Amino acid sequence: MLFAAVNLLPLLFISILGHTPCPDRCLCFQSSDLVDCQSRELTRIPQHIPEGTWLVDFSRNRLTEVQSSAFIGLWSLRILLLSNNSIQALEPQSLSSLQFLEILDLSFNRLQRLPGDFSQSLGSLLELRLHHNLLQHLAPQSMDQLENLRKLDLSYNIIQTMEAGLLNHLGHLRYLNLEGNELNTVEDHLLTRQQRLEVLHLGHNNISLIESEALAPLRSLNLLGLRGNRLEHVHFRVFLGLRTTSSTYLQLSLNPWTCDCELHRVFGKIQHVRYLKVEDYKEIVCQGPAQLTGASLASMDSQLCMAETSAVLVITITVVLAVICALVKAKHNSNSKQSASDSDPQALEK
Ligand SMILES: *[C@@H]1O[C@H](CO)[C@@H](O)[C@H](O)[C@H]1NC(C)=O
Ligand SMILES: *[C@@H]1O[C@H](CO)[C@@H](O)[C@H](O)[C@H]1NC(C)=O
Repeated sequence: MLFAAVNLLPLLFISILGHTPCPDRCLCFQSSDLVDCQSRELTRIPQHIPEGTWLVDFSRNRLTEVQSSAFIGLWSLRILLLSNNSIQALEPQSLSSLQFLEILDLSFNRLQRLPGDFSQSLGSLLELRLHHNLLQHLAPQSMDQLENLRKLDLSYNIIQTMEAGLLNHLGHLRYLNLEGNELNTVEDHLLTRQQRLEVLHLGHNNISLIESEALAPLRSLNLLGLRGNRLEHVHFRVFLGLRTTSSTYLQLSLNPWTCDCELHRVFGKIQHVRYLKVEDYKEIVCQGPAQLTGASLASMDSQLCMAETSAVLVITITVVLAVICALVKAKHNSNSKQSASDSDPQALEK
């Protein structure tokens, strides 16, 4: 009897004081509905997170997974911070019951993939941070419930291709960061529903081709980062579709540009479009042809088309000379025929 009473004592104590329990090693600030478990060397997400919690911070621990039902019943949770752990796996159902979550930070972990049901309960999510993980491939269904997402950070993973349809349900996206991945091509199908996208970071990938319709759906883009890729050439029509109400800033330096007359013309046309601005035009350096390696495109400007102009000139002069020669020759021939017939009056009479 006494034993049972002792066992019940903490519970009794809690209910008398109106306090909810707090996970071991964490600090709970009930007045602000905040649970602080930062840097506690936790290896597992603990139980007893108070039900009314609004923000929980597990940054800088030693978590290796998020177990199923880890956050069950936490209907009030809006912000969940899990960065700087060693999370390799999100078990199925590990995020279910987070229907009202708005910010999820999983950056600086070791995720190689997202489970198929990842987005199932995350319809309210506004911001998803997945940067600095080991993501290689994202299955379309892993993102298809994120209909309210505004900000998606996938930078510094090892993504090589983005599957068609992956972002199809993310019509409210304003910010997409794909910097520091291994993308080779910006494909036509990637951004078809991203009319509201304002910032697109694609720097420090391996991009050598932007397909001609890839940027065409974008109607609100303010910044397009393409520094540090493998672009040698680009077609003007790629940028033609970017019809924003304000301006679109392009970052294009640190690419192995082949500086020729055509490239000069493309940049010339871009500079002439009122709403397009190449932010780092002065830092655009030629990698080819060999004699121009290291030269800046801005410093050469119209000289690039000079060789072409003189070639055209040489060809024109050659053609003109050839025509003149032919005419002279023809004239000469007819003259000599004429004089031949002149000297033969009988022939004329015939
Ligand atoms: C996570 O670690 C990185 C790199 O060590 C650091 O830059 C970042 O500030 C850390 N973030 C948090 C929330 O601790
Ligand atoms: C980067 O692109 C080049 C061709 O542009 C290709 O040869 C190379 O394999 C690519 N590297 C990666 C890591 O995809």
